[in-house]
Amino acid sequence: MKHIQQLILLFLGFFYVGTSFSQTTTIPVETANNALVLQADDKGDLKIIYFGKRLENAKEYSQVPQVYRQSVDYSDVLNSAYTSSGSRNLAEPAISVIHGDGNTSLDLRYVSHKQETIDDNVSQLAVTLQDPVYPFNVVLYYRTYKDEDVIEQWSVISHNEKKDVILQKFASANLHLKAEDYYLTQYHGDWAKEMQPEQSKLTHGIKVLDSKLGTRANLFQPSVFMISLNEPSTEEEGTVLYGAMEWSGNFRIDLELDPQDNLRVIAGMNNFASPYSLPSKEEFSTPKFLYLLSHKGKGEASRKMHSWAKNYKLLDGNGSRLTLLNNWEATYFDFDEGKLFELLEDTKELGVDLFLLDDGWFGNKYPRNNDDAGLGDWQANKKKLPNGVSSLVQEASENGVKFGIWIEPEMVNPESDLYNKHPDWVIKQPEREEHYFRNQLVLDLSNPKVQDFVFDVVDGLFTENPDLAYIKWDANAVIYNAYSSHLENQSHLYIEYVEGLYNVLRRIREKYPNVPLMLCSGGGGRVDYGALEYFTEFWPSDNTDPLERIFMQWEYSYFYPAISVANHVTEWGSQSLKFRTDVAMMGKLGFDIVVGELEDKDLEFVKNAVDNYDSIKDIIWHGGLYRLSDPKEKDVASLLYVNEAKSSGVVFNYLVNNRYDSGSKLPILLKGLDPAKQYRIREINLYPGTQSAINPDVIYSGDFLRKVGFNPEVDASRKSVVLLIEEII
Ligand code: GLA
Repeated sequence: MKHIQQLILLFLGFFYVGTSFSQTTTIPVETANNALVLQADDKGDLKIIYFGKRLENAKEYSQVPQVYRQSVDYSDVLNSAYTSSGSRNLAEPAISVIHGDGNTSLDLRYVSHKQETIDDNVSQLAVTLQDPVYPFNVVLYYRTYKDEDVIEQWSVISHNEKKDVILQKFASANLHLKAEDYYLTQYHGDWAKEMQPEQSKLTHGIKVLDSKLGTRANLFQPSVFMISLNEPSTEEEGTVLYGAMEWSGNFRIDLELDPQDNLRVIAGMNNFASPYSLPSKEEFSTPKFLYLLSHKGKGEASRKMHSWAKNYKLLDGNGSRLTLLNNWEATYFDFDEGKLFELLEDTKELGVDLFLLDDGWFGNKYPRNNDDAGLGDWQANKKKLPNGVSSLVQEASENGVKFGIWIEPEMVNPESDLYNKHPDWVIKQPEREEHYFRNQLVLDLSNPKVQDFVFDVVDGLFTENPDLAYIKWDANAVIYNAYSSHLENQSHLYIEYVEGLYNVLRRIREKYPNVPLMLCSGGGGRVDYGALEYFTEFWPSDNTDPLERIFMQWEYSYFYPAISVANHVTEWGSQSLKFRTDVAMMGKLGFDIVVGELEDKDLEFVKNAVDNYDSIKDIIWHGGLYRLSDPKEKDVASLLYVNEAKSSGVVFNYLVNNRYDSGSKLPILLKGLDPAKQYRIREINLYPGTQSAINPDVIYSGDFLRKVGFNPEVDASRKSVVLLIEEII
């Protein structure tokens, strides 16, 4: 009986394809190497018929479905480009609604599409879908970045119904992939344990990556992931999809391996506790889902992601950054003006650009002398800083260095004037016991008055101190007891919070377009491209143990360019100062050490290191990254940064295994160099008094270095080796 049904369905399917062929609309969304092909059939169902390598002849895309012999899709919408629920769909929906009249069905049909060329590289497609029964619309947007093979996708939902429509689920994007197998790389973490990778083969059913934390949303899981098609990708080989939500709040990514063995990827804000009432004629815009498909492994994928981020997303992505000395680990909360003046001298002595004053400078009635009081009261503490922040800014400039400051403006300690004055500005359940994360609560950024307050914290600092050159913006707490005294509709809070945050950041950027801002969230609790539009760099983790950092920075490097990653040399870990400094150089270098307590040789080393860094930072910030030897698999981690002309490169090499006799026994292939060029390689950043094991006089061809490789001579006596590669002309 079942077979007969299947035969009938198959027959109907063939008949349907046969009669409707001429009425279909095929819309290829193409980048330099790929095509995501949408097709509206004669009924107007918009489907993804192909996502893979771009074809020479676009006309052939329509033939793609004919070469697949997978099992029957009873609903005929498993490959929907934006799956609705309540009609004939049987799978996880991208959108689910309750209409004004209480009806829960939705069926979206293709109406029209519009292609817009933004510039030589960027295009945007808008596809309008409409329900034939209800005046309900969705416009799907696909913004393509040709050279980077990146697509940003989002949707805008609206209706003309009499009453509000409740959006139960509202994804940004819905993809459909075909492969033999799918290997997911996802990340999990906690404080000081960010970006822990896990790889698994996806099985049938739904795997969900999500966050319900509200703020610091990535604490346990960020929204970045990779899916390798057919088999796990390597650095050089394999087809891999990178995905990421550009959203700094709750997200949800459904990975559904469906009955036909295809993978449906549905990504968006998390609908958890967030049914959204949408009034007639208003628009609900979802955040962007970012994806990139590469057929040349993870290396190419991340270089393209970095180019995209630097050219289009990260604030000042192709610009410069300030090296700095931070006082957090040097003093914690225990400092005064005199002590800070000494640190300003240290900043100058060290040769870095800026001094960053961290937590503890504010609060009077409730002084911020530890983390249980003062948050919210952004006035300089009169005891510690009798002459205010401005005297520090002035003293810095007298020392020839710049001055930056830490704030955490979205948060409040119950022990603060702010909490006493505005309890209604705080996210908390009115009738329930408060529950704290790091002794603090989150301010209600859905409230415009709170948005003004947060904006004023930043604006006030800049107005009073026009020479203030840098801000570290922290956000340590998650949202417990989600409730807003401001919102009528509590289920809007998680969404309105993030929109409120972006409002504030937009206002800040309108007034202060260029000031560098560091994105911090108790470490890397809020690293995403939604936020990085407003920030120049992020703090990946409070864990600065260099061995841990090699692994963590490696994982971040798949998605984020080195110029966005702030790394500080601290006292964490048992490695030498050289090891710690070398690791921190793989990004934006900073220090959080007591310079005055350094031995002479250590001081000489760090000062030289700052000079060395100044001479190679352009390669690290603006060059391409080649991950050469994976610390998860080998004794030695090795990463090459090479400039665009491939005339200069820097290779960082570290021993990551302390077992007897471990080291770089085999040469490391320096992929990324130009085979036609000649290079000389010398070791830099040597500790004073040590000799390099590398002969700087040998000339190698790029061909040799790519095929045979180079041995950095890493072993227990040389645990960290930095090599400078220069073209010989
Ligand atoms: C968070 C940050 C740290 C530091 C402290 C200050 O934990 O991640 O870098 O700024 O706050 O309280």
